[in-house]
Amino acid sequence: MNIQEKISPQEIKKHLHTSKIGADIYVFDKIESTNNYAKKLAIGSENHGSVIIAETQTAGRGRLGRSFFSPHGSGVYMSIVLRPEFDINKTLLITTMAAVALCRAIDNICDVNTQIKWVNDIYINNKKLCGILAESVVDPTNGDRVVILGIGVNVTTKAFSDDIKDIATALCEHTSKQINRNELIAAILNELEIIYDNILSVDFIEEYKKRSCVIGKEVFLIRGDEKCKAFVLDIDTDGALIIKNENGETEHINTGEISIRFD
Ligand code: BTN
Repeated sequence: MNIQEKISPQEIKKHLHTSKIGADIYVFDKIESTNNYAKKLAIGSENHGSVIIAETQTAGRGRLGRSFFSPHGSGVYMSIVLRPEFDINKTLLITTMAAVALCRAIDNICDVNTQIKWVNDIYINNKKLCGILAESVVDPTNGDRVVILGIGVNVTTKAFSDDIKDIATALCEHTSKQINRNELIAAILNELEIIYDNILSVDFIEEYKKRSCVIGKEVFLIRGDEKCKAFVLDIDTDGALIIKNENGETEHINTGEISIRFD
């Protein structure tokens, strides 16, 4: 049986080595969506690096209008307020660097081998373990651009709904380690700060590519209502997917998503 300890700022801070990310941590028992809350909090006030966490979300959101299953006490549902000073065209790199930070933290804490499915999903043994939802907003009080980086990790989640039960998984199924969510959250924040402080060096892209489960594979590329076959060649230094399309042309893709069959 996995009894999860409660998430608390004090416990997280025992394991935290950052200077900005996690300087302020707000924990809620129940919230609609930590991303929604972080957006409101960020307007006019909240500092770079503030973190909002909930034990459960009643309307957790994923990319492309999907929901994110967030049962009480079973996962990590958190959003980080970032105030990037770099070019808006590089925003995709925030999702990319967060994926690498998540993999490093989870692998270290749980002694597992996570992989990345472009662009925002963390996989383990061919099933989805975590999702990332980075959303940009402009702070109307000062015109600053704010990115809300939302992260959802299934830790002991069970009873996934029918539509995701064959593709989703939880960390406790893949490790014999007892997972302490406060330690896991701190490890994620520690890794995020290390990479974010040097984000434009794009040093982490090599690791993103090594962890990719789609490079060299046939996939379906889904953009809006369009779905077409593509072959994944590589990932570029902006985090875009380089594919060969059905006409044999090379394209750099920075929106949409891919689906892949794991055999
Ligand atoms: C995806 O799978 O497409 C992304 C999922 C992101 C889920 C996290 S949980 C914390 C934060 N708040 C939300 O409403 N969504 C993100």
